[in-house]
Amino acid sequence: MSVVTTTMHGDIAVLTIDNPPVNAASQAVRQGLMDALIATEESKPAAVVLTCAGRTFVAGADIREFDKPFLEPMLPDLLNAIEAATRPWIAAIHGTALGGGFELALACSHRIGAPSAKIGLPEVNLGLIPGAGGTVRLPRLIDPIEAARLAVTGKPIGAEEATQLGLFDSIAEGDLLDAAIALAQDAANKPLPAALLTRQAPDVERSTWDDAIAKLTAKARGQNSPHEAAAAVRDALDHSGTDALKLERERFMRLKGSPQSAALRYIFFAERTVGKSPRTKGVAPRPLAQIGVIGGGTMGAGIAAAALLSGLKVQMIERDQDAANAGAARVEGILGGSLKRGLISEAKHTALLASFNADSNYSALAEADLVIEAVFEDMDVKKQVFKALEAACKPEAVLATNTSYLDVNEIAASVADPSRVIGLHFFSPAHIMKLLEIVVPNNVADDVLATAIQLAKALRKLPVLAGVCDGFIANRIMSSYRREADYLLEDGALPHEVDAAMRNFGMPMGIFEMQDLAGLDIGWAARKRRAATRPASERYVDIPDYICEQGHFGRKTGRGWYLYGEDGKPTRNAEVEALILAESARKGITRQSFSEDALMGRILGCMQSEGTAILAEGIAASREDIDVTMVNAFGFPRWMGGPMFMKDA
Ligand code: 3HC
Ligand code: NAI
Repeated sequence: MSVVTTTMHGDIAVLTIDNPPVNAASQAVRQGLMDALIATEESKPAAVVLTCAGRTFVAGADIREFDKPFLEPMLPDLLNAIEAATRPWIAAIHGTALGGGFELALACSHRIGAPSAKIGLPEVNLGLIPGAGGTVRLPRLIDPIEAARLAVTGKPIGAEEATQLGLFDSIAEGDLLDAAIALAQDAANKPLPAALLTRQAPDVERSTWDDAIAKLTAKARGQNSPHEAAAAVRDALDHSGTDALKLERERFMRLKGSPQSAALRYIFFAERTVGKSPRTKGVAPRPLAQIGVIGGGTMGAGIAAAALLSGLKVQMIERDQDAANAGAARVEGILGGSLKRGLISEAKHTALLASFNADSNYSALAEADLVIEAVFEDMDVKKQVFKALEAACKPEAVLATNTSYLDVNEIAASVADPSRVIGLHFFSPAHIMKLLEIVVPNNVADDVLATAIQLAKALRKLPVLAGVCDGFIANRIMSSYRREADYLLEDGALPHEVDAAMRNFGMPMGIFEMQDLAGLDIGWAARKRRAATRPASERYVDIPDYICEQGHFGRKTGRGWYLYGEDGKPTRNAEVEALILAESARKGITRQSFSEDALMGRILGCMQSEGTAILAEGIAASREDIDVTMVNAFGFPRWMGGPMFMKDA
């Protein structure tokens, strides 16, 4: 059966695309639409309504086809043919009309959206630009700078904004199909609007344009596609519709073959592959209604807020009532921030606070389905907490630890039933960061693993499964390139040079700036813990310990690798730089100068060799797990795919 079916509703033909899961415009869909177009041009219904079955309107071209030769009919040709139809075509949009799906809607003469519909041009996120007329038709329909905003940022917009911009003719009240048919009947009695491609593009003064584009592309860093998208929209203003369409297609094809697009498409699918385990196939997760959080510090408060914002009830436990009040205040601060930014309504804010409680008595955890411990990073403290949890919680409750480095097998062994213990390693700030490392200890039960994955879904996090080792995937790799960065200091580089190399590579910040932000005491504690087991042959850099011994822990103390003034901006720290030179001399190292490429070569090489070891040890099941972790934990540039993708490329 064709993925596009036609039914008649009176004299209106309704075409329905049914290509799960997201109605991507695959070859079958394109062929089905072309056939339906030819048929309706012949049968001449009063108008055509184009709708989709399932959860969404067409969510774009079928990305899985991009690595294969293109098959006819090509999307741009199909859309030109639809735009040239003699009948009105009404796109009835629900879910997300994205990329090629949005372009399909633009080729129709009219658009109507469900109130919850979203539209957008996310091609830039795949290292592409719209390739089927999006950059050409859009600025002929709406304000060209708004068109550029959609194409450059890739961010979708809602039905209301789409209507205000002039993208939707109307928003459906009640049933979308009924409203679309009514719009079709109305359109059938009026002259067809001029095809967008044939319209004259509006004029936008160059300086106004350049200012707007500079703002829109400011965050693009090393990624090409946002700049290319802006250039394509500009081309559309400077050329006829037909010429601009050719230019857009050339640009699209060039980008499709670019390394950045290959990397971004890889990471798109990698993010949808990770977080699955053959062990949980057909295994029902345990119930998840009430969550316990132990510790209301930085992480505990963030985790509690994330759970509340996802509709779960949260019971927090702290050491005493004062600490419980302080933890509650942190959670309220985060929820208050969401209210202030308009992310939640006043009523929702009140409801979330009512779903939250903070106490110092573990007996409040009697009803908790899953408890996440986020107390100090100290094995003895954690073991005491798990003993208390074992006594207070129902036997089927899942017990999780948010430890950054500690041995989750050892924590699990501290309770009578280790199969209920798992690691849930959130990243800071926990209510914002998407990544969740699920640390899988040796004896964990399958349904406990399934529950952890289910929790990640409920919290809308990106789960990656990791085995037990010091630092799991993220912190183990980070510790290893942090060590390499320390070697670079002794070998001849200075902190600001390493940081600049990393930023210019595309990381949001360098390793030294990052440590100053997180607090140098964290790494110091880890180094002290490891001192007893560190092989004598391992090269050790004392500089960060010397800094910590002076009580300088980074931003929070105003001094660390850098100095921080009133404005909070880092400036070079002459004392630290002198210390670095002195250490090179003391160790008899002749300092050399490094290019940025050489610095990044050492850091990247280190990430890759640690990643290779992690794979060999089975700590990560695939390179995708490592790359998704590096991109989402530390801002490794998505458009490079990740260190392991780069290694294989
Ligand atoms: N092509 C092929 N497969 C796609 C796809 C696409 N455009 N979009 C999503 N999928 C697949 C996913 O890989 C996933 O497959 P899986 O179940 O086998 O893992 C499945 O559809 C469901 O996707 P999600 O898990 O992401 O589902 P969500 O409900 O969370 O999100 C979505 C749905 C918002 C549509 C999201 O999938 C998305 O953002 N998709 C990409 C949209 C996009 O980038 N469109 C532009 C494509 S490029 C283009 O159109 C070029 C044109 O200009 C010529
Ligand atoms: P924090 O010091 O901000 O908070 C710890 C909280 O635990 C404090 O409020 C303390 O009062 C409470 N606490 C201590 N002992 C307790 C007990 N016996 N019962 C109840 N509460 C107790 O620490 P932070 O940063 O929130 O870290 C917590 C855990 O999360 C650590 O294991 C850390 O390694 C891990 N982690 C930290 C990240 C970070 O970026 N800060 C990131 C990911 C994990």
